[in-house]
This record gives sequence, structure tokens and C-alpha cells, in this order.
Amino acid sequence: MQELNTDDFADTALLPADSELTATPLQIVRSGTFDDFINGLTSSDQQWLKRQSFAGKTGQVAWLENGQGVIGSDSEDSLTTLGHLPFQLPEGVYRLTGEASFIALLGWGLGGYRFDRYKQTDRLPAQLVLPHGADAVELVHTIKATNLARDLINTPAQDMAPSHLQAEVVALAEAFDAEVNTTVGDELLDLECGAIHAVGRAAADGPRLMDLTWGNPDHPKITIVGKGVTFDSGGLNLKPSGGMRWMKKDMGGAAIAMGLGYLVMSQALPVRLRLLIPAAENAVAGNAFRPGDVLHTHKGLTVEIDNTDAEGRLLLCDALSMASSEKPELIIDYATLTGAARGAVGAEIGAMFSNDDSLAQQLQLLGKTEDDAVWPMPLHDAYDYMLKSNIADLVNSAASPYAGAVTAALFLKRFIDEVPWLHFDVMAFNIRKRPGRPEGGEAMGLRSVYRYLAQRFGASDE
Ligand code: BES
Ligand code: MN
Ligand code: ZN
Repeated sequence: MQELNTDDFADTALLPADSELTATPLQIVRSGTFDDFINGLTSSDQQWLKRQSFAGKTGQVAWLENGQGVIGSDSEDSLTTLGHLPFQLPEGVYRLTGEASFIALLGWGLGGYRFDRYKQTDRLPAQLVLPHGADAVELVHTIKATNLARDLINTPAQDMAPSHLQAEVVALAEAFDAEVNTTVGDELLDLECGAIHAVGRAAADGPRLMDLTWGNPDHPKITIVGKGVTFDSGGLNLKPSGGMRWMKKDMGGAAIAMGLGYLVMSQALPVRLRLLIPAAENAVAGNAFRPGDVLHTHKGLTVEIDNTDAEGRLLLCDALSMASSEKPELIIDYATLTGAARGAVGAEIGAMFSNDDSLAQQLQLLGKTEDDAVWPMPLHDAYDYMLKSNIADLVNSAASPYAGAVTAALFLKRFIDEVPWLHFDVMAFNIRKRPGRPEGGEAMGLRSVYRYLAQRFGASDE
């Protein structure tokens, strides 16, 4: 296991266990021991807690006379247990009087995030000295992986165009001695990536495909793909104002894929990782692709454009076909693909599709333990008819108003040959603030997949 130095803890709201800073003690009071805890207090502390309305519920914080804090907890540990504290407690350094679970500590770290690129923040998060025995390495790497994705998503399209996303992938590769090849603009046509090219060619900052590889080539091959639409105007099928407002986040899939790649590489999982990031801005100009156009994809399939706003699946189809032709052990993709997925499971659950039902079931369970909800959706082949085109192999968007997330996933499936595959159609954005989950960009589905990879491929000496 790698060692961390003090600098590694920067921006995590956590401090190493051996930190010598004076820290305010915090005691977690669990519902099972609430009565014993109260009975063990002096009567004036009992009065005190009453006046602070402390009932031991999750989310409650109160203070004893000696200055020690008490944290209520009446539910199973999750990001919610400590996730509210970094900005609810006054600035300063804190420590816990006892042990805490990984997920609870992670909640503190993830709750300490703020996006401060364009605005000075009014305060720092409260910092927690980790308890001895906490897995500091994995905590710090998980927080950094998540915050990388959050920063990329929160950055507006003006500063997160395809070339910026390329620079971010290159920086990621450099940090871990990975190799990266990028294909830009018309060169995409030499690679047969006609779909990525079509989506991005109308933008001032051209379309591109980043292809990063890392790790021992003899290790199991894992390929992660992310939709990198840096802004989705809808193209000629222009979105209305409300629908366009948050489309800077349409590279959320790419951001999550990069965050997951960061975590895999920083934890040195014994896999051969490939990260494929197609990036494009879906813009409007005279050379924009049009409804009715027919695109030539990497797989060789032709796609008739029904709607230029169904652009994410076009970026992904070329990347997935490249991923699939190498026959890795597993392909995982993340995308802010459809509004229909949000209609189906809402903004706080990742819609998950897989060509392997037992894989999806395992991920759903891990989603619960990781407090990172992902839910299986049907890859219902009988709906394939909706993708039929009269003049090409398939259309990019079904005419039907129903099952939009399913038909998008079925579209992608046509570009993958018999390789185990997980597809996540995610919001990548917290539309409301929750403990450990600040409003804004979010790495949805990252931890569930990381846990799966670590359990399946991780070194056995852990
Ligand atoms: N990026 C959007 C999907 C989206 C919208 C995700 C809002 C999350 C929140 C995607 O490119 C899109 O426009 N999808 C269309 C597809 C339709 C044209 C078939 C949609 O969902 O309406
Ligand atoms: Mn779109
Ligand atoms: Zn989109």
C-alpha cells in the first residue's frame, strides 16, 4: 500500500491520524446506546442537551459543557452520518472519540467540497483528524477522484471545451505514467469515427477522442468510456432555454470515467486500464450535421439522424466499438444520455443497463453499501424495432415517446460484441444539497463500480 504525505490531504477536509494539531473531540451517539449515554452525563449536561433539542437523530449536533461535540446517529452509516459536518461545524480541527466506518468518514470528506474557481469562499470546511486504523489511502483517493469529476462538471463550457477536456486527460495520464493518444478533428475520419466527427464539427473547438492506457498489459483488460459533450445545445434540433440551461454538465460521463480512472490508477489496481473519452460540443453552424443525414460509424454501421439532440449515443457508439474490438474483460460507460432515464428513476439514482443480469444485480447491491444508488433497467431486445431506419442500418433516436432510456441503451448495444458491459445513464449533478453531496456536479456510479473492480480484480493481500 502506498504512503500518503501531508500534501495529499489538501482539499479533502481530512487530516492524517498522527496529526498533532489540537482538535475538538466529537462523540458519535448511536441510537442503541442513546439512553446509556444520557444516563452517564451530569444533570447539567443533560439539561444542556435538552435545551439544544438533542435527541440523537442523524443530522443533529450538540455541545457538552466541556466543549465536546455530540453527533446523533439513528440510522445505518452512510454519507449522511457525518457529511453535513464540514460546513455545519465552525471552522477548525476535530477528532472523533471512537471508531467510525469508512462510509461515514468518506461522507465528511465528500461534504467538504466546494467549487471555488470563480468565487472566493467565505470559509474553509471543518477538518477531521482521521481515527487510527482508518484506510486513509483509499479515503483520500476516493475523495480526490470524486472531486476531480465534480470540478470538471462544474466548470462552465467556456472553460471546459473539448481541448480543455483533452488537457485534463493528458494531465491524468502524466500523473500516473499512462499513455494517451488523441485524435482531433478531420483525423477522426481516418479512424472511421464518423459519428464523433459529425456531432462536434460545427463547434469552434473541434471534436476529439482521447485514448488512455495504463497498467501491465498482462493484467485483465478493463475499458471505461465516458460521454464528453462539453455543451449540448441540441444542435439543429435546438433545445429550449430550460432544457439547455445545465448542459455544461453533458460531459459528466467523461468526468466520472476520469474520476474512476484516477481511483483505479491511484489505488494501483492490478488491471490494464483503458479510458476512452470522446469529446465534442454539440453546436449550431452551417456545417452542423442535420436530421436526415446518414453517418458512417467505426463499427461500419450506418446511422440515420432522426434528431441531432440524440448526440451522446453517437459519441459513444464509435468509442464503444473501438473498446469492444479489443475484447476486454469488461466495458463500463457513463453518460448523461437521456431525460427519459431521469423520468424513470429520478435525478438521484443511476439508471444501469447490462448485457449480464447477474453483474447488474451485484452492482445494485454494491450501490447500497457504497451509498451510491444504481438501479437495473431492462435491455429489452423486443424494442429494437424502434431503431429501424428505411435507408440506414439504424436511426439515432426512436420516434416513440416511450422507453427513451431503453432505446438509447439498445442503440449502444448494437456497437458491442459479446463483451460484458455496464452502461450508466446518470444525472451527474446534485439538483439539491444533501450531506456529503453538495449541489452541483457529482460522480454518480463511481464508487459502486470501483468496489466491484476492487473486489473482483484487487490484490488478494488486502
Ligand atoms: N444530454 C441530453 C440528456 C439529458 C438531458 C440528460 C437532461 C440529463 C438531463 C441528451 O443528449 C439528450 O438531449 N437526449 C434527448 C434524446 C432525444 C432527442 C431522443 C432527450 O433525452 O430528450
Ligand atoms: Mn442532446
Ligand atoms: Zn447530450
